[in-house]
Amino acid sequence: MEKKFGNLKIIVAADYDGLSATAADIIAGQIAAKPDSVLGLATGSTPIGTYRALVEKHKAGLDFSRITSFNLDEYFPIKQSNDQSYMYFMRENLFAHVNINPANINIPSGEVADAKAECAAYEAKIAVKGLDLQLLGVGNNGHIGFNEPCDFFPKTTHHTALAQSTIDANARFFESTDDVPKHALTMGIGTIFQAKRILMVASGAGKADIMQKLFFGPITPQVPGSILQLHPDVTLVVDKDAATKLEGI
Ligand code: GLP
Repeated sequence: MEKKFGNLKIIVAADYDGLSATAADIIAGQIAAKPDSVLGLATGSTPIGTYRALVEKHKAGLDFSRITSFNLDEYFPIKQSNDQSYMYFMRENLFAHVNINPANINIPSGEVADAKAECAAYEAKIAVKGLDLQLLGVGNNGHIGFNEPCDFFPKTTHHTALAQSTIDANARFFESTDDVPKHALTMGIGTIFQAKRILMVASGAGKADIMQKLFFGPITPQVPGSILQLHPDVTLVVDKDAATKLEGI
């Protein structure tokens, strides 16, 4: 099922596999239309199926050789060799399985001494390249990347403290809550917003409330992803369980 609300297109898939296939089709379409696309990529559990579907498409001929990627965020500090780093995640789930040129892969480094300089350099590199399509998941509290609820929309790539709710949500990936990094480097809301197209994926009943708030509630930095209501080209791909509270669906 597909519905348009102004600049927002909502596609409701039957289940997670359908969501993943749909999101992968959209990304593959972007690559077909512009083989040297700059893709903004995301981590979290939701895009894993999308990456799996993209790997299958690559096996069938989808060419990543001219693609440039910029990931949204990375824990800080963290070693790239740590199996919970987002660099590790991206290698495992996508980069090791497609023909992207390693020189064209960009993820903020959690290993540097100077986080501020790393963020400024990352922002500058994105400004030069531009983002053709940004893939997004969403946190339970409405965060995109690691832009946590706060009193303003952070503009550029920055060093941030994670909300306790995010630390708790991500504890499932670590041995204990104490092991979850408390900080991250993340694209800002302004960085994400300059992407020409936004593709958000959300799955499961746990995301139903935040979906409604994000796209039909007030635009507020307390729900950071709500800013997407102002973006000219947003596609939201959800499964049925995440769509139950969406207005007009
Ligand atoms: C992390 C990432 C976000 C992601 C969120 C949701 O906090 N920084 O980019 O959207 O997790 O993850 P999940 O897809 O597992 O619900």
